[in-house]
Amino acid sequence: MSALLTGTPLAGRVAVVSGASSGMGAVTAERLAELGATVVVLARRQERLGSVVKNIEAGGGTALAIAVDVTDREAVQAAADQVAGRFGKADLVFNNAGVQLISGIEELKVDEWQRQIDLNVTGLMNVIAAFLPHLTESAANGKPADLINTSSIAATRILEKFSIYSGTKAYISHLTRLLRVELGRKMVRVAAIEPGMVDTELPDHVTDPDASKLMADLIRDIDVLQGADVAETVAFMAAVPRHVNLTEITVLPTAQAV
Ligand SMILES: NC(=O)c1ccc[n+]([C@@H]2O[C@H](COP(=O)([O-])OP(=O)(O)OC[C@H]3O[C@@H](n4cnc5c(N)ncnc54)[C@H](OP(=O)(O)O)[C@@H]3O)[C@@H](O)[C@H]2O)c1
Repeated sequence: MSALLTGTPLAGRVAVVSGASSGMGAVTAERLAELGATVVVLARRQERLGSVVKNIEAGGGTALAIAVDVTDREAVQAAADQVAGRFGKADLVFNNAGVQLISGIEELKVDEWQRQIDLNVTGLMNVIAAFLPHLTESAANGKPADLINTSSIAATRILEKFSIYSGTKAYISHLTRLLRVELGRKMVRVAAIEPGMVDTELPDHVTDPDASKLMADLIRDIDVLQGADVAETVAFMAAVPRHVNLTEITVLPTAQAV
């Protein structure tokens, strides 16, 4: 999807993007900045974050990189404090860092189970804990306030060997629905984006040959999504009027069957 939004509908917004050093997070960070937001990028790889910031600044935008492992609760809190000191409270959080590791359950790859739970569940919660006060304060001040969590179609699809990854994404999708009960009435929009196959670094971490083949075949055979497609969708979710919440967006490559 090339740029559909025009102008600077996100001017005045302070956005935080986790998992912004590559893939859909990096592209989304750059797109949010292009649309007028000040953008803070979080991930572990400092150098990669630096090039995202450089691209944003080259386009005339404002950005800050904070190298942080989101599984480290104190480090994420320190990042949130740094954001508040530098730009004021964040009002758009794209909670996107995640890892996909695929294996048969009887292989008992418990370290891989743990890595996914630590990042996709605990890391996501750490970002929520650190930035929720930002969002509620922004909303109370009459600003739009968005918490957009990256789930996946894996949250609902039954895919062999995806059990732990899918379980973490189902957690995210349902958590998102539940948070709306408490936060919607405070005018904080909570939403989930559930993409199908996007061409990113995500499959690079997969060691299971069947799963690697499934993803490689999809990327070869069909016109899969690009980071820009997700970026435009996230930007649109944040740009709609404050009383509108696009709560659950599934975005699939047209030719993807599952
Ligand atoms: N690609 C797809 O087909 C697809 C489909 C549905 C959903 N998703 C979801 O989309 C999200 C983004 O993934 P992607 O596809 O863009 O893949 P990606 O290119 O691998 O991006 C993952 C991002 O998460 C960051 N990250 C990993 N561990 C981290 C940690 N401990 N602390 C902070 N950041 C960490 C990575 O940066 P560092 O390594 O620098 O920390 C990177 O920026 C994930 O939640 C994924 O589950 C992807």
